[in-house]
Amino acid sequence: MKAFIHNIPKAELHIHIEGSLEPELMFELAAKNNIRLPFESVADLRRAYNFTDLQSFLDIYYQGAQVLLTEDDFYQMTRAYLQKAAEQNVRHTEIFFDPQTHTARGIKFETVLQGIHRALLDAGQQLGLSSNLIMCFLRHLSAEEGMKTLEQALPFKDCIAGVGLDSTELGHPPEKFKHVFDLARQNGFKTVAHAGEEGPPEYIWQALKSLKAERIDHGVRCVEDARLVEYLVKEQVPLTVCPLSNVKLRIFDNLRQHNFKQMLNLGLCVTINSDDPAYFGGYIEDNFRALHEVHGLDFQDIYKIARNAFKASFLTLAEKQKHLDELDEFVSDFARRQMQDSPHSA
Ligand code: HPA
Ligand code: ZN
Repeated sequence: MKAFIHNIPKAELHIHIEGSLEPELMFELAAKNNIRLPFESVADLRRAYNFTDLQSFLDIYYQGAQVLLTEDDFYQMTRAYLQKAAEQNVRHTEIFFDPQTHTARGIKFETVLQGIHRALLDAGQQLGLSSNLIMCFLRHLSAEEGMKTLEQALPFKDCIAGVGLDSTELGHPPEKFKHVFDLARQNGFKTVAHAGEEGPPEYIWQALKSLKAERIDHGVRCVEDARLVEYLVKEQVPLTVCPLSNVKLRIFDNLRQHNFKQMLNLGLCVTINSDDPAYFGGYIEDNFRALHEVHGLDFQDIYKIARNAFKASFLTLAEKQKHLDELDEFVSDFARRQMQDSPHSA
């Protein structure tokens, strides 16, 4: 099963690129850029990754992002994530970035975008890993600031597939960003939103109805509203679930309490993702493996989840089909080899 989880072709749909900045690279960039981190060492920093809720994580995450100054810094961070993802057989990834975290510090929008974009282009050529970029609005900031960020992005809309909504959820309902998302859709951006991570099911309804979000990021609190579950199942709205993140941020006390298997059994279109892998103790494969170990996800479950992710991506129909064909072939080859190795146990 370990080999199956490792080798199965995957798509990742919920990863914040700033959340992939590993402590070692953070220290290296801090030294290069003459930025003093309030931690003595990598070990000291890792010890601080002990979160009580979403906000306690965000405070450290925004602090960590301050070491990023130049286009090359953004390139290096992105490149490191893509390398890891490719090693774990991610074939396609849709990456969030938070421009406001950087423009607020005087970094140019173009610097951020070009560094990330160049790494994505190189990964396409060198690692055979395709990608889409999703620009997130920080929901703790105002809709006016969100609108300014969208305007900054318009000249670069060919390199940005969609927009999303992240940061502090409670007290910042999705409908606050209705006009920003309306304009984004008019400009051809796809739309997603974090909802139902710490916030109530009502925020998921708002993300769907006010923002017309095509996917919900997290969405684990949907199970508190039977009518919402019915809607999400009927429409097969993809939910990008991040199990290790949810435990680290105390959405669930431990992985055993996580409702992923329940969501899968309800017929929801769930996917498995890493969210902020440098902070939450694992990349996509670690998330799959942990759920397998604790909830007994079997071959069929994992196959289904991998299918869901390709189907839920913002690739074209033809590109999705190519990935689904590769996935089907991988699974039938694997089954054939299992039969050959132990013909009586299958
Ligand atoms: N939730 C909200 N905002 C975020 C997250 C998250 O899990 N990760 C990075 N920004
Ligand atoms: Zn997230």
